[in-house]
This record gives sequence, C-alpha cells and structure tokens, in this order.
Amino acid sequence: MGKTLKIISLVLFSAVFLIGFADEADAKKKKKKIPNKPKYVGSVKCNGSCHDPYYQAWVDSPHGKTFALLKPGQRAEAKKKAKLDPEKDYTADPQCLRCHTTGYRQLGGFKPAGSKNKKGKDVSTKIDPEEPSLEQVGCEMCHSAAGGAQFRVVMKNTKGDYKKSDTEKYGQRWDYKNVCTRCHNHPKNPHKKGKLDFAKAKATIHPIAKYVNEDNADQDIVKDGKVKDRAKETAKSEEKGLRIEDWNFKKGKLKFAKGTRPYSSKKKKFYYIK
Ligand code: HEC
Ligand code: HEC
Ligand code: HEC
Repeated sequence: MGKTLKIISLVLFSAVFLIGFADEADAKKKKKKIPNKPKYVGSVKCNGSCHDPYYQAWVDSPHGKTFALLKPGQRAEAKKKAKLDPEKDYTADPQCLRCHTTGYRQLGGFKPAGSKNKKGKDVSTKIDPEEPSLEQVGCEMCHSAAGGAQFRVVMKNTKGDYKKSDTEKYGQRWDYKNVCTRCHNHPKNPHKKGKLDFAKAKATIHPIAKYVNEDNADQDIVKDGKVKDRAKETAKSEEKGLRIEDWNFKKGKLKFAKGTRPYSSKKKKFYYIK
C-alpha cells in the first residue's frame, strides 16, 4: 500500500470511529434529567420546536393578553362595573395577579415589578412584549398543578409519545373543566360575569388549525393522531378532579389557604376533590 493510501484509510477509519462515538454521546445527551421539583417555566418554553401552533393561537387568544387588562385606561367600563378604579395601575397588585398571570406566589411563577430577594436584588419577571410568557394566563395555569418544568422533560424525552399517566405523575392535570374554576368561577372573581359554558369556551382557547403552516406541520398532534390516542385513556385527574387552590389576603399579600393545594412537591403527592 502506498503511503498516501495508508494515510487516507487511517483518516477514514478515525472519521467513522469519531462519528460513531459522537452519535452515542448525542443519544445520551438527548435524554434530559427530570428536575426534582415542579416549577413554573412560562409559555415561551412551549414555543420554538414543540407546540408552536398552540403558542401562536394562545398569543392571539384572550388568555395571551390578560396582563394588559391591569393597566390604567384598559376596559374602563368593565372596571367600573366591577367597582375597580379605571385609572389605577393594577399590574403589581396582589388582588389581581393570581388570575391574570402565571404561577404568582409559586415556585418559578410571575413576580411583579419591584420584587426583590432577601439581598435586595431585583428579581421581577422580565417582560418581552414580542413573546408573552409568565405575565399572562399561560399554558401552565390550565395544564399543570404546580408548573410544567418536570413533565415538559418527559414530553421531550419521549418526543411527544407519552401516556397521560406519564406526565400526570409529574403534575400535568387533565381535568380541564375543573381547572377553569381557578379563575372564572372562583369565589373571589370580582367581575361577576357568571358561569362559563365549558363545551363552548374550550373551542376558543387555542384553535390551532389556523396556525399550522409549512414550518410547523410536524407539530400538528391533532392531525398525526397523538391527541386522539391519548383521549382513549382516562387520567386519574379526569376521574376525580384535582383540588383548586383557595387563597386570601394577609397584610396585602396573597396566601394560599391551608389544605387546598392540588399538589405537594415535598411529599410528591396529589390531592383530589373529596
Ligand atoms: C379570581 C380571579 C380573578 C381576580 C382576582 C381578578 N380577575 Fe380580572 N378577570 C378574571 C376572569 C376569569 C376574567 C374574564 C371575565 C370573567 O369571565 O370573569 C377577567 C376579566 C378582567 C377584565 C376584563 C373584563 C371585561 O368584561 O372586559 C379586566 C379589566 C380585569 N379582569 C381586571 C382585573 C383587575 C384590575 C383585578 C384586580 C383588582 C382583577 N381583574 C382580579 C379573573 C380574575
Ligand atoms: C385557558 C386554559 C388553557 C390554556 C391557557 C392553554 N391550554 Fe392547552 N388545552 C386546554 C384545554 C381545555 C385543552 C383540551 C381541548 C379539548 O379537549 O378540545 C387543551 C389541549 C392542549 C393540547 C392537546 C393535549 C393532548 O395531548 O390531548 C396541547 C398540546 C396544548 N393544549 C398545549 C397548550 C400550550 C402549548 C399552551 C400555551 C401556549 C396552552 N395549551 C394553553 C386549555 C388551555
Ligand atoms: C389563571 C386564570 C384563568 C384560568 C385558569 C382560566 N381563565 Fe379564561 N380567562 C381568564 C382571564 C383573566 C380572562 C380575560 C381575558 C379578556 O377578557 O380579555 C379570560 C377569558 C376567557 C374567555 C374569553 C372571555 C370570556 O369571559 O368569555 C374564555 C372563553 C375563557 N377565558 C375560557 C376559559 C376556559 C374554558 C378555561 C379552563 C379550561 C379557562 N378560561 C381558564 C383567566 C383564566
């Protein structure tokens, strides 16, 4: 064998070896570790490769715009009707944030302007007007018991091929009908608009059909049958709804009422409606 031939075969051999090695490392890297606690991560995390049509539909829906309602001058008539001051800035008011943002007063959740940690550092939620996230009623307010950080990793690791029980174990709730009462029929709702017709309302939440395009067609889980497959399974939370947090105000701060949270991340335990 000529010298050049020897060199070429050596280079080829090492290339094949290296590619094989990298593949193995990639496979390992792709399976991410599930965080040890549920935590709110914000709606932007669901956009950008997995649920883009849902995110876009949500941005254009009422739930993607709930923060702006707290600004002065917005929906003045509706505010007067609810005995609220139309000129007041409510964007940092604990009385409003539980139902108009995501995960307020919970791990990873929305923190209004002026929030500081113990060392005095500003920890308020950064708001990007181009990409609504924690500052609105996001995905996690309807889809999770205590934030989506954990079950999001299950979805990624299985490339969307999971059973309801696989994600429910990590705090995904499937009792949609029940979860609207977190806000709409909650006793502390100041708007008194009356009961929500769930069957009618759910169709308006994120109607993805209009938002599927060439770039995201592979994410249409209605069309590819994943939604239908999961619908055959009845999750535990569908049989027996999860509890809905109650809360009150103490010295101007929102405090969750004892014994009403749907999930204890310490005990890794769910609580169902009795
Ligand atoms: C218990 C949950 C809850 C609280 C607390 C809450 N809201 Fe709302 N808000 C809602 C819901 C749900 C809607 C949608 C209307 C409805 O069906 O009640 C809404 C709608 C609104 C609207 C639009 C109303 C319309 O008819 O156009 C405004 C404005 C608003 N909220 C402002 C506020 C302000 C300001 C506060 C705090 C002082 C507040 N909300 C506190 C749940 C809440
Ligand atoms: C106001 C509540 C609400 C919000 C906010 C919300 N969803 Fe949903 N989502 C629902 C309901 C209700 C269904 C079931 C719809 C049905 O049965 O027709 C659903 C269904 C889904 C499904 C299908 C699940 C399956 O496998 O069956 C996906 C995926 C989804 N939502 C993603 C999102 C994403 C991503 C966001 C945020 C960008 C979001 N949702 C925000 C209420 C909500
Ligand atoms: C975290 C609080 C929260 C949860 C949970 C929530 N919503 Fe809402 N929803 C709101 C707020 C705030 C608005 C007001 C948006 C506006 O008026 O622009 C709203 C508006 C709506 C609207 C349009 C306005 C209206 O009153 O008719 C519909 C429909 C709706 N929600 C359906 C649902 C359904 C169905 C669920 C449960 C699957 C749900 N929402 C869960 C807070 C919530």
